[in-house]
Amino acid sequence: MADEHPLKPFYSVLVLAFGCSALVATAAVGLAPLQEANRSIDKKKNILNAAGIYQKDKPVEDQFSAIETRIIELASGEFVANEESAAKGTAQIPPAVAMDASRELKREEDIAGIRALEKYSYVYLVKNNDQIDQVVLPVRGKGLWSTMYAYVALDSDMTTLRGVSFYEHGETPGLGGEVENPRWQSGWQNKKVYSPDGEVEFSIVRSSSESSPEEAAYQVDGLSGATLTSQGVETLMQFWFGEHGFRPFFNQIKKQGGFNG
Ligand SMILES: Cc1cc2nc3c(=O)[nH]c(=O)nc-3n(C[C@H](O)[C@H](O)[C@H](O)COP(=O)(O)O)c2cc1C
Repeated sequence: MADEHPLKPFYSVLVLAFGCSALVATAAVGLAPLQEANRSIDKKKNILNAAGIYQKDKPVEDQFSAIETRIIELASGEFVANEESAAKGTAQIPPAVAMDASRELKREEDIAGIRALEKYSYVYLVKNNDQIDQVVLPVRGKGLWSTMYAYVALDSDMTTLRGVSFYEHGETPGLGGEVENPRWQSGWQNKKVYSPDGEVEFSIVRSSSESSPEEAAYQVDGLSGATLTSQGVETLMQFWFGEHGFRPFFNQIKKQGGFNG
């Protein structure tokens, strides 16, 4: 038997390593569009869930056709749209507008602990019989361990909550992680955000059953054993429905005589 080249095992390992890494790289690149599509479906599902209209047995894309995605400038509350896309009813972001353009928040402004605030935000208008029935808003804020992300659905009256969907967080499972529990989230339905004089009255309390019916209309029960996460939820609501969040948007809508005005 001829002597093997002493470097043969080394070359074999090298070829195998190259082969495997090429395989992994190809798979990663090849799967990227699929992952992106899944992320998009997941996002739409969360928005539908917040609005309380998600149906398990129907394609998400079909259900999402009831929702119009718009972009607003947070500070002015005005819709951002180029005329062409607005005319088609599918307002999309003009190329010159970067969604990640953001500014650092001052410490006293940053009650939700998000550090930077984007200049623009998506808003999702949910239609029913050609009328805007509710609006779903993306919100986020610091809990005990993590930034929690949610969609909040508000009735077109701009004060009554229709639902919420916390979809990403790093809170402790069974404690703060219960923000994603559908049973807890269902307690948000029909609660109110703004008092008649326009203040953010919404709060998370230990037990709303101890409150008067007038107070309880603005209260959601906190998560047991997770007071700090619950406080984070309350402050993120105060932030996003306040002057730096979506309040200017609601002011604009009111000026126009409401969502269907
Ligand atoms: C391992 C561990 C994980 C915890 N995770 C959370 C959490 O995710 N959210 C939270 O608010 N509190 C969490 N806590 C509890 C807080 O430290 C604190 O005790 C609690 O928020 C007080 O809430 P309570 O007054 O409802 O008991 C955790 C505690 C431990 C020991």
